[in-house]
Amino acid sequence: MADRDSRSGARYANEDIFRWADEVHASHDEGLAAAFDSPDQDDIPAIQVGASEGKLLELLVRMVGARKIVEVGTLAGYSGIRMARALPEDGRLWTIEYEQKHADIARRNFAKAGVAERVDVMVGPALEVLPTLEQHAPFDLVFVDADKGNYHHYGAWALQHLRVGGLLIGDNAYLFGNLLADSDRGRAMRQFHEDASKAFHSVCVPTPDGMMVGIKKG
Ligand code: SAH
Ligand code: DHB
Ligand code: MG
Repeated sequence: MADRDSRSGARYANEDIFRWADEVHASHDEGLAAAFDSPDQDDIPAIQVGASEGKLLELLVRMVGARKIVEVGTLAGYSGIRMARALPEDGRLWTIEYEQKHADIARRNFAKAGVAERVDVMVGPALEVLPTLEQHAPFDLVFVDADKGNYHHYGAWALQHLRVGGLLIGDNAYLFGNLLADSDRGRAMRQFHEDASKAFHSVCVPTPDGMMVGIKKG
């Protein structure tokens, strides 16, 4: 039966359907296209969120009326542009990137997309950069999309520095299919989920690699 299939993980969409829905709901203007295509042009990994996931981020920013956002893992700025464009005029995105090359490319893409004045690209390991952002807390949204073995630390930081009602979002929440593995990254990602499920109203949205979304409880 249809419902039982979908509940156990079967997917009805195929590549053509995904492409059509992306085109209708989540198409790219020049700024988004430049950032999305950047990995191929600039020889960095093509590991940005998909178009519909990026659009979901944009919608979530709008839904909570976020003004202050922290992103962990910038890459070329694709997800950052999605979120920054949904910010109000006086909003701000701090996005953290370990690789200087990625940060340089992202700054160029933020400028092309017209959001450079709203975005601070912070270069360094996120665990060292996050404490420097605490002066701007509380935040409305924290999006975690960097080294998977530290997700539980990023989640703990987010819990401390989000406002009540603020969002914690984690990409790759199925850990490329290894969420249940007996590994450090598996344990870190499971702890990220379990901690979030206690302090947040939470769900793991079944995107291709899972996206954890939580609203901080009061
Ligand atoms: N959010 C981006 C994709 C991020 S890919 C998008 O969807 O467009 C993950 C990024 O995290 C990579 O650029 C990688 O260099 C960076 N990264 C990995 N470990 C990190 C760390 N410890 N601190 C900050 N960034 C890190
Ligand atoms: C990788 C990282 C990501 O954030 C992602 O969405 C896909 C792949 C990676 O490190 O390989
Ligand atoms: Mg990711």
